[in-house]
Amino acid sequence: MNLALMGFGTVGTGVEEILFKKKDFLSQKGFDINIKKVLIANANKKRYPKDDSIEFTANFDEILNSDVDTVIDVTSNLEETYKRIIELMNAGKNIITANKAVVSKYFEELNETARKNNVYFSYEASVGGAIPIIHPLMEELQFNEINSVSGILNGTSNFILSEMEEKGLDYDVVLKKAQDLGYAEADPTADVCGFDSQRKIRILSSLSYNAKIKEEEILTLGISNIKKSNIEFSKNNNYNIRLIANSQLKGEKIYITVMPMLVKDPFFSNTIKSLNKVRVTGEYFGEYRFFGAGAGKLETADAVIRDLLRIYNCSEIKPFYTAEKNYKVSTDLENKYYISVKEVKDALYKVINRDETNDLHHIITKNLNFDELKDILNSYEEDEIFVAAVEEEK
Ligand code: HSE
Repeated sequence: MNLALMGFGTVGTGVEEILFKKKDFLSQKGFDINIKKVLIANANKKRYPKDDSIEFTANFDEILNSDVDTVIDVTSNLEETYKRIIELMNAGKNIITANKAVVSKYFEELNETARKNNVYFSYEASVGGAIPIIHPLMEELQFNEINSVSGILNGTSNFILSEMEEKGLDYDVVLKKAQDLGYAEADPTADVCGFDSQRKIRILSSLSYNAKIKEEEILTLGISNIKKSNIEFSKNNNYNIRLIANSQLKGEKIYITVMPMLVKDPFFSNTIKSLNKVRVTGEYFGEYRFFGAGAGKLETADAVIRDLLRIYNCSEIKPFYTAEKNYKVSTDLENKYYISVKEVKDALYKVINRDETNDLHHIITKNLNFDELKDILNSYEEDEIFVAAVEEEK
């Protein structure tokens, strides 16, 4: 099989490294895989592939017009990559991608274009790093219904929260560590403001419910305003704070959020470093749980290579997502929230259940639906308020 890579950053170099190291092993198993070309943005930058015969090009047409039958996209670019994937699919090439921004924003179009051209569209690496989560869901969806998907889907935020908790460190110090370890996106805003988790839960939920969910319909809050005193409050109340992406299908309504949460449930509260965890519930199987490395060079490359071998064997699941269910994203689900602010404004004052004040107000609210919560958020500047959902007592 001849393939091309688009991108040679962290995950791209990981894919090349594994394929190089495992070349003979794979070949003994009948997988004859050659990377013909690698598309890069800057042709003048020196690259160090393990296989020094690999050809680099900055000319996309060299990939589009080549005889490769599969292209692995490991770019982090959104619009340009989307257009290129569509062109490649239209030219009959299978696509494997780790690019969650593209998969999330264009999930409908990508599935449809792959179906139309009878090519494979594989995106296991776009969610949960090494964890096999997309394929188990796809297998279930051939005969089952999924009711909920929730998880810790961003390694960077989890690393920050668990390190702040364990070592008493400041947010900025730990963010820098996460960047140095290669977990964070080039612009870590996506990690710490919840957008990376938003994309991942949009992919998992769209697929699970076969419905269209727009990214902007997902109530998304991040951890960028977290302070040491928020961690202390949660510890004093026997909680841990984790960034949780959560979606549930109740009747015809979808409830979907990404937000910090005060958790006691050990499945989430014991999750440390860059580990990701996902819990799925559905018809027949009840509940199952996944955990593993949610980020990292070789870990994410591992998921790409599993897709590649499925395509090689023609055993990949064909794209069946059609967004045909008319479920609506809804906002009437109630929950209690932990809110910390310097100053209590009217919208917040009327929903206080408990307030502990030291350097900040640490408030537990009454039950609020998403719209009531949004009213409170709208009465503050983004950097003036930290909000976390409070896990329901079991
Ligand atoms: N920046 C992402 C994370 C990488 O921290 O989880 C994996 O998608």
